[in-house]
Amino acid sequence: MRHLLSTKDLSRDEAVAILDIAEDMAGVADREVKKLPALRGKTVVNLFFEDSTRTRVSFEVAAKRLSADVINFSAKGSSVSKGESLKDTAQTLAAMGADAVVIRHSASGAPRVLADSGWIDAGIVNAGDGTHEHPTQALLDAFTIRRRLHGPDARGKALDGVTVTIVGDILHSRVARSNVWLLTTLGATVSLVAPATLLPVSTAGWPVGVSYDLDAAIDAGPDVVMMLRIQAERMNAAFFPNAREYSRQWGLDDERAARLPAASIVMHPGPMNRGLEISANAADSPQSTVLEQVANGVSIRMAVLYHLMSGSDA
Ligand code: CP
Repeated sequence: MRHLLSTKDLSRDEAVAILDIAEDMAGVADREVKKLPALRGKTVVNLFFEDSTRTRVSFEVAAKRLSADVINFSAKGSSVSKGESLKDTAQTLAAMGADAVVIRHSASGAPRVLADSGWIDAGIVNAGDGTHEHPTQALLDAFTIRRRLHGPDARGKALDGVTVTIVGDILHSRVARSNVWLLTTLGATVSLVAPATLLPVSTAGWPVGVSYDLDAAIDAGPDVVMMLRIQAERMNAAFFPNAREYSRQWGLDDERAARLPAASIVMHPGPMNRGLEISANAADSPQSTVLEQVANGVSIRMAVLYHLMSGSDA
């Protein structure tokens, strides 16, 4: 694997192998010295054209734990704000000797353009492109599900038979797309629940069930309920009557959370709109994995950088 652009590109064996490497990487966090020499002498550039807290920081922590040098580059405060193109930016980074570029961009497909361009000879990692994909988020979600359901030493296991309900703003969600491809590759059964206005025009060809009724989905007792953020910044029209109505019909409120089986887990990729798609109690409950997802993000990103940059075959 040279680049990580889409979870569609991952075979089941490759995905399980990345989860297994992440399991090894998770052990590093428990050591007194949280560092491995694996990527000493390599340079990772974090190239963020869109805002981020979790993804940017966890890629930085991951690269540093592997002893790589890290350059953080955000469009704000760089020559991009003077109109510099992606090509010129990439060639500038190439001249500085980047071995891997972690890119977040508002344009769907920007990471693939970079990977196919020949402008830079580096491994490219998609850290979220427009409404297209966010593959490391899906990998950390799969890792979190596997750990919760099978325990910390689940090496070699996939997610066969696990039922996952993804709820909310599917239309604008790169997290949903990456999770649909990855979780089904790993053997999970995935359902989408959303208002019709927040579903893609067609989900034909998606290996999922679709429904509009969150209460019926909750009563089916899924293993995992994944709530999605309402992405107001990508909405140029009214997709639902108002926040109160959205929350009433499609929010995981206290009453719905209480109806979930005790073994079900509640996920959210963050950042959360508390009180809109998820109540504060549901977000902070023992069933919630929100902070585990953040911690697991470091292990997964260490695994991905190691897999791409060490030249090792997982
Ligand atoms: N989940 C996620 O991508 O969060 P950030 O936007 O904070 O990176």
